[in-house]
Amino acid sequence: MSLGDEAHVEDGGAPAEELLPQDLLREFDGVNACAPMVRYGKLPFRALVSQYETHLVWTPMMLDFSTSSTERGTFWLPEASTSSAPPVAEWDPTPEPPRRSGVHSAPHGDGRRRRKVKGRVIIQFAANDPVQLAEAAELARPWVDGIDLNCGCPQKWAYHEGIGCALLRKPDLVRDLVRTTKQRLGWNFPVSVKIRIDDDPARTHELVTSALAGGADILSVHGRTRHQSSDGHPVNPEGIAFAASCAKGAVPVVANGDVFTREEGEALRKRTGVRGVMSARGLLANPALFAGYDVTPLPAIQPSLASPLTPSKITQEFVRLSTAHGLIFPLFHRHMSYMLETAYFRTRKDRIAFNALASYAGVLDWLEEEGCMAQEGKDAAGRGIVKKW
Ligand SMILES: Cc1cc2nc3c(=O)[nH]c(=O)nc-3n(C[C@H](O)[C@H](O)[C@H](O)COP(=O)(O)O)c2cc1C
Repeated sequence: MSLGDEAHVEDGGAPAEELLPQDLLREFDGVNACAPMVRYGKLPFRALVSQYETHLVWTPMMLDFSTSSTERGTFWLPEASTSSAPPVAEWDPTPEPPRRSGVHSAPHGDGRRRRKVKGRVIIQFAANDPVQLAEAAELARPWVDGIDLNCGCPQKWAYHEGIGCALLRKPDLVRDLVRTTKQRLGWNFPVSVKIRIDDDPARTHELVTSALAGGADILSVHGRTRHQSSDGHPVNPEGIAFAASCAKGAVPVVANGDVFTREEGEALRKRTGVRGVMSARGLLANPALFAGYDVTPLPAIQPSLASPLTPSKITQEFVRLSTAHGLIFPLFHRHMSYMLETAYFRTRKDRIAFNALASYAGVLDWLEEEGCMAQEGKDAAGRGIVKKW
């Protein structure tokens, strides 16, 4: 089996199971998530990553909203091994730098039973008023598979408004936010909470136990504190493991921070003992990272990985999704620039030339000239039309 084959197992057209997000996390190994990303994680991007082994997608902290069945991919996931016990970790405030292996490990025919399942969409809200959150959640409910409460946004304006990180030290409010939403939506409708770790483990413990007391079904843990920026501080896996241990296995936990390759995701999963891993910046740079590609798959960068996910497919697919869903050009341009940054741009000149493009038509022409789009009369991988590589 080559990389990426997992999404293409022949299934004879059997319908995919539609499970609650928490059951997807509990019942299968290797569940991956796209983190909430304000501005960036809109529908076309979520639909794109869903084609590359990203099983759960979070919407951005809600400012606007659209959703579609296309952001729920179909996957063959291996059933959870019975040995996945919840972690019991000691607090260790010394962070270790993340591992960067850069090495692929192709999925094996491991003999484990796989089931065909649908990906799930979770909408994130930033809120501090339980009734308002419950009302917003009720409006969104028909279109999503779960509601998430943001307790991690560190921005000053958010903190001053009493949302995001401001909730980290308000465990009673978090409990009430979750409980009121669960009461409004019914106890079966999933509500998750995304937190950051705290310098003081007692605070993390209180927050997690309060969220669970309110009825939270999933806990996502970004392994940085409120004062730690993603650029300046490596993620702290022990902090995540500690937060996860506070949940005592009552709900599945998703670990977040510094996942830029599938191997890093697996390492974080193992080290923290959680069920799922979540990436933000890694997926922006390489939407196919969970399918095992180290950089956005483009022609000749990794020609041996071409089949059946053709190398040009990813850019082509993002153009299709962005135009189909009306993504505004500056955002489409920014996404393309992130995806091409490591995979394609060799010099400052390359970058400047791309950044100067001012319209969808301009980017399309550029992609075609560079061989990143399939052309008529050629195979979808663009074999034979690749100029630069
Ligand atoms: C562009 C961008 C937007 C983000 N927006 C949100 C958001 O709306 N809600 C949220 O909980 N976290 C948000 N985050 C934080 C991420 O979800 C994630 O917790 C953080 O980036 C750490 O993951 P990473 O190391 O994989 O980037 C955002 C991060 C980025 C880079």
